[in-house]
Amino acid sequence: MDYKTFGEKRIKVFCFILFCFSQPFEIFCLTTSHAAFFQEERPLNQLFFLTESSRINHVNNTQAITVYSERSNQVSLAKSELLLVLETLTGWCSEFKALKLFDLILNIKPSTIVEIGVWGGRSFIPMAFALKEIGCGKIYGIDPWSAQVSIQGMDPTNKKWWSSVEHEPIRLELVQKIEALRLEKHISLVHSSSAHAPLIEKIDLLHIDGSPIESAVLFDVIKWSPSVQKGGLIILSDSTSSNKEKAVQWLDAHYIHIADFHENSDWSVWIVQ
Ligand SMILES: C[S@@+](CC[C@H](N)C(=O)[O-])C[C@H]1O[C@@H](n2cnc3c(N)ncnc32)[C@H](O)[C@@H]1O
Repeated sequence: MDYKTFGEKRIKVFCFILFCFSQPFEIFCLTTSHAAFFQEERPLNQLFFLTESSRINHVNNTQAITVYSERSNQVSLAKSELLLVLETLTGWCSEFKALKLFDLILNIKPSTIVEIGVWGGRSFIPMAFALKEIGCGKIYGIDPWSAQVSIQGMDPTNKKWWSSVEHEPIRLELVQKIEALRLEKHISLVHSSSAHAPLIEKIDLLHIDGSPIESAVLFDVIKWSPSVQKGGLIILSDSTSSNKEKAVQWLDAHYIHIADFHENSDWSVWIVQ
C-alpha cells in the first residue's frame, strides 16, 4: 500500500469513527421535496401515486444541497457500512445511486427485486443490504458472467474491453462477498443471460442494467417489465444514451415516467399503474 492510499484509509477510518459518535445526518443533493419523495416511510402506492403533472423530471444532483436528520442511528450505521463495502465492489454504480436505491428499498419494502446485469454487485449489494436492513424480501441477480455473451453486438472498442476482462473471477468474488456480508438469505444469483433466465413474477422493483446493445435493452424491457406488479418500479440505467432510446420510448408508452437522475451515467424511474 503506498503512502497516499494509507493516508486516505486513515482519513476514512477517522471519518467513520467521527460519524458513529456524531448526530447522524445525511447530505442529499436534491431539493427537500425530492428528498422527501425518497425518504418518507409511506406505502408504495401512496409514495408513488403521481400524475403526469407531478412527474419529477431532470432531478439534477447539482441542485441545492439539503441537509436533514436521519431516521435512526441504525440506518445511518448501515449506510456507513454500505459505503465502505461499496469501495470494494467492482462495477459502475455511483455512491449517490447506491444510497438512493438503499433508501428507496427501506421505504417501499419490496418483496421481490430483479436486477438484470449484476457484474461485481455495485448496485446489487446495496439493494441486498437494504433488504437485510428491513429483514425481508429477495433480490434476484441475472447475469451470464460470460465474455462471449457480453461482447454480442458490441462495437470494436467495447468488444476489446469486455473480451479482455475475465468474467468468472468477478462472479466468484461477488459470491464470496455475499457470504462474508451474510446476505445469502436475501439473494438469488441466476447465472444466465436475460433471454434464458426463467421469468420471475410479481416483481416490485426491476433494475435493468444488462447488455447495452439497443436490441438487447429493448428485449430486457419487453421481457421483464410486464412482470412488475401494479405500484412496482422499473429503473433503467444509462437512460439517456442513444442505445436506450427505444427502450425509453417503450417504457414511456406503457408506464408513468416519474424520475430522471442525472449523473455521470443517468438513470430513470417508471411506475407501473
Ligand atoms: C454495466 S454491467 C452491470 C453493472 C452493475 N449493475 C453495476 O452497477 O456495477 C452490465 C452487465 O450485464 C451483463 N450482461 C451482458 N449481457 C447480458 C445479458 N444478455 N443478460 C444479462 N446480463 C448481461 C454483463 O455480464 C455485465 O455484468
